Amino acid sequence: MGNINRSVDFSTDSEIAVVTVDNPPVNALKHEVRAGLAEALRQARDDAAVKAVVIACAGRTFFAGADITEFGKPPQAPGLHDVIAAIEATPKPVVAALHGTALGGGFELALACHFRVAVSGARVGLPEVKLGLLPGAGGTQRLPRLIGPEKALQLIVTGEPMAAPKALADGVIDEIVEGDLTAAAIAFARRVVAEGRPLKLVRDREDKLSAEGFADAAEALTRRLRGRDAPAACVEAVRNAIVLPFEEGLKREGELFRKLVTGDQSKAQRHVFFAEREAAKVPDMPDAAKPRPITHGAVVGAGTMGGGIGMCFANAGIPVTIVETGRDLLQKGLDRVAANYRTTVSRGGLGADEMERRMALITGVTELEAVGSADVVIEAVFEEMNVKKRVFANLDRLAKPNALLATNTSMLDVNEIARATARPEDVLGTHFFSPANVMRLLEIVRGAQTSFDAIATAVGLGRRLGKVPVTVGVCYGFVGNRMLARRSIETERLLLEGALPQEVDAAVVAFGFPMGPCAMMDLAGLDVGWRIRKGRGERALIEDALCEAGHFGQKTGKGYFRYEAGSRTPVPDPEVEGIIIEASARLGINRRPIGEEEIVERMIFPMINEGARILEEGIAARPGDIDVIWVYGYGWPVWRGGPMYYADRLRLAHLRDRLTHYADRSEDGTLQPAALIRRLAAEGRGFTS
Ligand code: CAA
Repeated sequence: MGNINRSVDFSTDSEIAVVTVDNPPVNALKHEVRAGLAEALRQARDDAAVKAVVIACAGRTFFAGADITEFGKPPQAPGLHDVIAAIEATPKPVVAALHGTALGGGFELALACHFRVAVSGARVGLPEVKLGLLPGAGGTQRLPRLIGPEKALQLIVTGEPMAAPKALADGVIDEIVEGDLTAAAIAFARRVVAEGRPLKLVRDREDKLSAEGFADAAEALTRRLRGRDAPAACVEAVRNAIVLPFEEGLKREGELFRKLVTGDQSKAQRHVFFAEREAAKVPDMPDAAKPRPITHGAVVGAGTMGGGIGMCFANAGIPVTIVETGRDLLQKGLDRVAANYRTTVSRGGLGADEMERRMALITGVTELEAVGSADVVIEAVFEEMNVKKRVFANLDRLAKPNALLATNTSMLDVNEIARATARPEDVLGTHFFSPANVMRLLEIVRGAQTSFDAIATAVGLGRRLGKVPVTVGVCYGFVGNRMLARRSIETERLLLEGALPQEVDAAVVAFGFPMGPCAMMDLAGLDVGWRIRKGRGERALIEDALCEAGHFGQKTGKGYFRYEAGSRTPVPDPEVEGIIIEASARLGINRRPIGEEEIVERMIFPMINEGARILEEGIAARPGDIDVIWVYGYGWPVWRGGPMYYADRLRLAHLRDRLTHYADRSEDGTLQPAALIRRLAAEGRGFTS
């Protein structure tokens, strides 16, 4: 590629200059691209024969943004601002030709062009907020001028992309084109020249800059983004677009961007961005391993999980058969799926016709034989080993050769389940999180005999289903629930020693989780664990007492908290306080006030300790995998980067000392720092170094 440099090509089609950029995979605006663009724009400006310029990208997308790997390094001229200034200074029409995802700095570059044309499948957006940033290349000043501050803020604070038809309706783009994009953009440029259309830059438009409704929109959009710096900075920058002259607003945007990009939150969010992509790569996967094609799925079990998994397939456009043992159970499951879709439709998240299309992809049957046509079968039946083994023995008999056989168990031994078949190489775990159609995390559990092809198939399927797949090894609870179990143990201890559920939850929420452990257990239901413990002869003093008093969680209107009818808001419950105080007394514990800092440490540090053991055992391949699991499966605040990243920021020597302190005080040897923490701390290193 490129007569300007390796990434940028400059050619002319009669009087139209065509600048084509090719920087795979996503045309990030790295230094070489910016330099090439600046040079191409100079040539176009100086060539009197050139009457208009088209900027297009080769490969799968228009620029997907600034090159994130350059953040935190010394800036190299020309910067994106210089390229954008060169576009605006071009006295000839500049047309951006959009396809794929024009995101971040890529979309901002397009906003500086005089015109934008796009293919119908293109999407534009400013996802910087997801990296803890704001659009730093004029997006917060130009987009409000183009579509009004309220709509612009919506795009900037959610970071969600906008599809081309909507972009056309809102005036973000000028035309949707058919056929070859570059040819169509050249034709468009020619028309602009022939018609002598005025070259009005977005920066010079003022007519949409109204403050009406802005304050309310800002409040509504940021209400649930507590703790994050970026959304507030986005609001400030867009407000500046209304009240300050363009250049002044641009200057303030730059200052806000620089503050965010050097701040801890954005660093943490960039870590999660790359860790998520890394997690999709299984380190020991041979190149020869190939995902198997999947055109049809089956789910065994029409319960909440099975139905949710079925929805994931339908949402991805893959036909799926849901198998349940009896007609009534099946109908109940399908009704639940339909009700879920209807809720989304009523909230405007889905068209009624699209709901019909998705429901039509789901077939419910009561004969297990139906799995014979599926390329992947996901078992989501009752969480009991013998039941699972029976299902897998039948799947072995009925599923076609090479079908992926997956269990959605959240803790049972995948190897034992695999042994119920004569093809353990095709068996693995696909651990979805509830609600399965919403939660992004997918733990892929590889058994001792699972083949690489099967793992590659599951990872590929996970991505197609819109999930974030992370491959882990077999152990009790896998990665996420095994770590969570440490938090549950510590929650009970804190309650026995003197804290109340509302205090524990408040500390965890203040740390950044969407809900605390007690509210989370109320949501999941306390009776499930109670039954499992009874079966194993185990006790959890407080939770058992709560269950014995009929406190099963939200479903009974009372658990660790009380819930008014129809409400999900946890209300502190004096009866629960009584049960807890009595439990402390029974153990002869003198209750004491416990501060927020201690609660947070005891909620977080034992989990990180377990994460270290998980790494030692090779159950997770990388610390970043654990971070991704906690961010996408358990609501770990993304701006804190995940538990292992967070531990590195605190320094492992500090973690080691605090764990030792708590282990000594509680005389619980399992709280002693893991060998990996001791070793890394002694070497002054972190998990990620
Ligand atoms: N910079 C550097 N690398 C990037 C990148 C970027 N902006 N966007 C993607 N990549 C890399 C990924 O890390 C990945 O690398 P590996 O193959 O080595 O893992 C590769 O490109 C492919 O990415 P995906 O696996 O994510 O591919 P996809 O097809 O699933 O998704 C995408 C493509 C929608 C563009 C997605 O990559 C994405 O959302 N990228 C980030 C977009 C973004 O946030 N842009 C704003 C950047 S900040 C900015 O522009 C600041 C500013 O205002 C100036």
